[in-house]
Amino acid sequence: MAEPARRVRIRDLQEKKERGEKIAMLTVYDATMARLLDRAGIDVLLVGDSLGMIIEGHDSTLPVTLDAVLHHTQAVTRGARHALVVADMPFLTYQLTTSEAVRNAGRLLQEGGAAAVKLEGGRPMLEVVARLVEAGIPVMGHLGLLPQHVHQLSGYRMQAKSEPEAAQLVEDANALEEAGAFSIVLESIPAEVARTVTRELTIPTIGIGAGPYCDGQVLVSYDAFGLNDESVPPFVKQYANLAEQMVEAAKAYAQDVRCGRFPQLDRQATGSGK
Ligand code: KIV
Repeated sequence: MAEPARRVRIRDLQEKKERGEKIAMLTVYDATMARLLDRAGIDVLLVGDSLGMIIEGHDSTLPVTLDAVLHHTQAVTRGARHALVVADMPFLTYQLTTSEAVRNAGRLLQEGGAAAVKLEGGRPMLEVVARLVEAGIPVMGHLGLLPQHVHQLSGYRMQAKSEPEAAQLVEDANALEEAGAFSIVLESIPAEVARTVTRELTIPTIGIGAGPYCDGQVLVSYDAFGLNDESVPPFVKQYANLAEQMVEAAKAYAQDVRCGRFPQLDRQATGSGK
């Protein structure tokens, strides 16, 4: 299959919003899947700190390190030629000092090959966002349910349900745009709140569990493809059941090995490898 033409740029996302075209974003953690999602024409690939759960088996994103995100970002940028690659900034890699945030985000671009970083939070992050942008590091914001605040939020629950919380979120979104963010992820908030933010901002919003009115959508790829068969959020649409297919394929392989159906002498002995 022919590869999609050229690299997606931040300006392309902005133009998509202006034309009313939706943006498709997925998380990805390795080169092989990055190549496949690129082939499918996904606009933005996020090396999410969800890798803490999906890849590393933790029960939150909190243990994820900068080195881990860097490692996976390098793999993804080796695989992706078309999509814009965004790397998540892990817990405590941007909250301590602004200069540390610039250094850490810079590594994700310089060593990881990402085109942008994503970080969680509104008002408390404005100075950091402005400084990163000043240093030439594009920033995607993240509002609503902030997984790095899971303990403070007492779990993964919908945010901005009350009017004052919704008003605060809208204010935070406007402030992030003003600070220079090029896009904002809106996670687990009511659809109407996401609609208000999307209408007020000139930059694109990307929703996850935030209804249909955002300028784009993001899902954790392992959830969307049915690879993660544990605790999938209710808003996820599963486009495949790869977990089941993989289990069946593994069973078939094991059976073949155990009863001597694989490998077959004729295929190997010829050395053709085909
Ligand atoms: O880490 C992640 O996968 C994310 C998405 C849920 C947006 O931040």
